[in-house]
Amino acid sequence: MILVTGASGKLGAAVVRQLLKLTSADQIAVLVRDENKAAAFSEQGISVRVGQYDDTASLDRAMEGVERVLLIAGTDEERRVEQHQNVIEAAKKAGVQGIAYTSRTLKDRKTMANKLMEGHFQTEDAVKQSGLAYAIFRNVLYMDSLPQFVGAEVFDRGISLPAGQGRVAFALRSDMGEAIANALLADTWNQTTYHLTGSDTYSFDDIAAALTTLSGREVRYRPAEAAAFGAQLRERGVPEVVAQRVVGFMTDINNGQEDEIYPDLEQLLGRKPATLEEGLKLLFSL
Ligand SMILES: NC(=O)c1ccc[n+]([C@@H]2O[C@H](COP(=O)([O-])OP(=O)(O)OC[C@H]3O[C@@H](n4cnc5c(N)ncnc54)[C@H](OP(=O)(O)O)[C@@H]3O)[C@@H](O)[C@H]2O)c1
Repeated sequence: MILVTGASGKLGAAVVRQLLKLTSADQIAVLVRDENKAAAFSEQGISVRVGQYDDTASLDRAMEGVERVLLIAGTDEERRVEQHQNVIEAAKKAGVQGIAYTSRTLKDRKTMANKLMEGHFQTEDAVKQSGLAYAIFRNVLYMDSLPQFVGAEVFDRGISLPAGQGRVAFALRSDMGEAIANALLADTWNQTTYHLTGSDTYSFDDIAAALTTLSGREVRYRPAEAAAFGAQLRERGVPEVVAQRVVGFMTDINNGQEDEIYPDLEQLLGRKPATLEEGLKLLFSL
């Protein structure tokens, strides 16, 4: 049986959707914090386990009968390393065959601006030190984040971000979820790190051009300066932690941290992942 944590989230839901296509529901378990979010899973015959990463007793219960665990990264960026360690410990204690983790693909851990990403690499270290077979999925920045990054007024005001001409191998979260499910069901698990990226890289100029083509309205990209952009966010009342995170993401893009293509996503899917135009069409309903 495979346990998917974070199954009430968007990536987890995509993983479970694909698992259901490939295996029977009685081979799938999900960990959710809120049972109310799990009705659809129970209705389909999936085993629902209620618990959370801070509650070690709930994690022990969740591991019952489980052979493989997919740990989906938690959203509490300050506490996530300790929380993830709890899941890894529970998996070890239960004697599972292997553990998988959803990390981030960034070129160089040592020079990244967004220090919140460090928690992913610390979790990778803990997974590797667990002695269990593992699969690490280093996910690229979700293409699905673009509507938030460019803002609701993109067709009136264009795009202004401190990302320079940096390029990102954007991929859709649904493609990554499908690929992760395919890998989770592989016959044997070793110690594998997958880099899940799109098959091309794109700059914000490319994004503006694609939005122009798809919408018929001219969208321009004007690179912003990082400090001034951060100050604008704070003036608009964006919380400090969010402002820092957005500036960190954009600075890393500007520095080429997301400018890498790997074949892993395409190989796991058995087809090309969605291109920028295909993804934007979906995300902006164009
Ligand atoms: N690659 C990227 O661009 C990118 C972008 C955004 C996020 N991420 C990371 O990828 C993860 C999955 O993405 P997503 O889009 O599926 O996020 P999401 O929709 O916010 O889902 C997060 C899931 O984690 C669960 N969770 C959070 N903290 C938990 C805890 N302490 N104990 C148990 N469950 C917990 C949430 O449960 P509830 O439903 O109860 O809240 C939810 O099911 C995120 O958590 C984040 O770490 C990556």
